[in-house]
Amino acid sequence: MKTKVGIIGGGPSGLMLSQLLDLQGIDNIVLERQSREYVLGRIRAGVLEHGFAKLMRVAKCGDRMDAEGELHDGFFIAENGVKRRIDLAGHTGGNSVVVYGQTELTRDLYEAREKMGGNVIHNIDDVEFFDLKSDAPYLTYKRGDEINRIDCDFIIGADGFHGPSRKAIPKDVLREYEKVYPFGWLGVMSQTKPVSPELIYSKSNRGFALCSMRSQVLSRYYIQVPLTDTVDDWSDDAFWAELKLRLPTAEAAALETGPSIEKSIAPLRSFVAEPMRYGNLFLAGDAAHIVPPTGAKGLNSAASDIYYLYHGMLAHYKNGDDTGLEQYSEKALARVWKAQRFSWWMTSLLHTFPDNNAFDDKMQKTDMEYLFSSEAALTSLAENYVGLPF
Ligand code: FAD
Ligand code: PHB
Repeated sequence: MKTKVGIIGGGPSGLMLSQLLDLQGIDNIVLERQSREYVLGRIRAGVLEHGFAKLMRVAKCGDRMDAEGELHDGFFIAENGVKRRIDLAGHTGGNSVVVYGQTELTRDLYEAREKMGGNVIHNIDDVEFFDLKSDAPYLTYKRGDEINRIDCDFIIGADGFHGPSRKAIPKDVLREYEKVYPFGWLGVMSQTKPVSPELIYSKSNRGFALCSMRSQVLSRYYIQVPLTDTVDDWSDDAFWAELKLRLPTAEAAALETGPSIEKSIAPLRSFVAEPMRYGNLFLAGDAAHIVPPTGAKGLNSAASDIYYLYHGMLAHYKNGDDTGLEQYSEKALARVWKAQRFSWWMTSLLHTFPDNNAFDDKMQKTDMEYLFSSEAALTSLAENYVGLPF
């Protein structure tokens, strides 16, 4: 097979780029290891920056998001039972975020791809990369017993943190930066009314907790847990009991509980791979960088990668101008590192760190006191949370 752009990974990054390119008549193929049902079964992000929402509209996939997504112009930080509001709109000249699940957004992208007759091939494996430094790179993959080959101009690695694309970059070219945190997040989805109309990030002596939502009848809650815990260690009752202990009294009393419809543990990690381009292979989204979810920046960082890549490809195919593609790695990384800083800071501010000493504890406490004593600090938090420009 021959195409212009071969995209590995049918998550939000790969599908969004595929849709945007197709709308401009730029032929592409998406290769996804899992079935569509499997991809749509993963519960992940819930908070979108307006930059991402805008891209969804450019991709002609924004209608349901605009109808069903909720605009949030603030959220709460609770510290040992005391809840204070971060006025996002007030500190950013009216900006906000959109609460709309990654599952729904991915479904919208799949439906749009299907409607346009987009080529998304599921259940593939063993992707291999060839001649990445040449003008005629190609890849091979296995589907069933068949080995297939795709010749293309560009290959996009949008295959998440565990995918093969990043590993195709030689070790002496790729530099990896990583920080692994000594805890994970246990997440529960339940068909209950959210305890608060806006998200609550709660720091407590027992560890961090987050109250989030997907809609007014679907709640998403998280608690910080040790890395040694497994989902089997946490019955629904144990989860609700622990969550209540980490929330302010009023929220603990009002919390509506119910059976979990999904329960999973995600380890927390900061990770960046540089550069994000090797020859005609371009990395995008989680394939190149991971953030701890505390700042809600993972998917939103993928959005800026896709934006830069899309415009780079558009300039290449429409005007023969390669400046955007040449600058891709540098431009994408500049924004990625800022999202890394913010996510690391939010994580440091709100979690209990088992190895912290008395000095570290004082610093964490002072960080919070400073935040709520300074309009400049609140503005910095708000402008990062709603998303830096790209
Ligand atoms: P992925 O979603 O990982 O997609 C990659 C795709 O590639 C997958 O479908 C995978 O099956 C496929 N693939 C893998 N290997 C291969 C292969 N060999 N061949 C072909 N295909 C392959 N982000 C936010 O912005 N806001 C939030 O509120 C937020 N909350 C989060 C909460 C949790 C609990 C977690 C875990 C993450 C959260 N994130 C959040 C992060 C966000 O979910 C990710 O950043 C996002 O999924 C990245 O999209 P992606 O398309 O780059 O990668
Ligand atoms: C979510 O709803 O899943 C969510 C919201 C905010 C975060 C992380 C996850 O910071």
